[in-house]
Amino acid sequence: MSHASTSASSALPVNLALDACRVTELAAIAAERLAGRGDEKAADQVAVDAMRTALNSLDIAGRIVIGEGERDEAPMLYIGEEVGKGGVGVDIALDPLEGTTLTAKAMANALAVVAFAPRGGMLHAPDTYMDKIAVGPGYPEGVIDLDRTAAENVTALAKAKGVLPSEITACVLDRPRHKDIIASLRSVGARVHLISDGDVAGVINTSDPTTGVDIYIGQGGAPEGVLACAALKCVGGQFQGRLVFRNDDEKARARRLGLKDSEFDRKYSLNELVSGDAVFSATGVTDGALLEGVKLVDGYVLTHTLVMTSATGEVRTVRTKRKA
Ligand code: FBP
Repeated sequence: MSHASTSASSALPVNLALDACRVTELAAIAAERLAGRGDEKAADQVAVDAMRTALNSLDIAGRIVIGEGERDEAPMLYIGEEVGKGGVGVDIALDPLEGTTLTAKAMANALAVVAFAPRGGMLHAPDTYMDKIAVGPGYPEGVIDLDRTAAENVTALAKAKGVLPSEITACVLDRPRHKDIIASLRSVGARVHLISDGDVAGVINTSDPTTGVDIYIGQGGAPEGVLACAALKCVGGQFQGRLVFRNDDEKARARRLGLKDSEFDRKYSLNELVSGDAVFSATGVTDGALLEGVKLVDGYVLTHTLVMTSATGEVRTVRTKRKA
């Protein structure tokens, strides 16, 4: 197997979760200041700046494996950039602003996201699309499969949950490319929860019954797929992903990251996308199903973060108050 998906062994520092929490808090605070101002790029840029500064203050030898793009297209937090003051070697997947359009339009569910893993612990996914399917914890292994239709997956999931397919809610990105998936879901009476952006939140929502989402299906960014897997790795659940290449340039990107041509059609499981331990943190930028967005109240900035550690199974929601 190429270095793109080797398994990892070394442990992560015990207190990395609090560091991760602070990293996403600071990115979310920066991005939220530009919420509703109609400028996606500016909102992304301030989140990138804030996250990079926060990462560079940590006692880690960090290496970005999922970042803002390749070096020639992203001056900061590019794939391969080294961050931190030195220390334990850590691979980092990040999206300082997951949901740039959501933020620019002050819509729900924008997040700042980071995941840490031991070196070699996450697939170096190229910036292509990925077919994804995910469910939360508690179901028999194999209850979902990318090679089955959406209707078949919902029917199997409903059986495992002990409900009718009409009582299953599937989250899908609202895109023309998902027309057939949506039709397949509706053919068995499933409820389709369409989202305009933000499939990291879409996948994570399957792990929390309070969101009402049972299953995530559809094609979104491959980097977002790895980030979502880091979250499911901590909280449990199943995920399958398959890279989707639209042209030779995207294949060349994958090769540059160490993937072999024989891996291009591969169906990756959760443990193949994130093979080692992981620490995951997401802070709400705008209000969402799982997390509240950044608020300014009585001279304080309030943040709401979900931070999780796979090695210990610890899942925390952290509310932080800072002087504005
Ligand atoms: P950005 O934060 O880069 O805008 O991405 C948002 C997002 O909705 C992701 O959550 C998702 O994986 C991807 O874009 C879907 O891509 P597309 O908009 O091309 O369908």
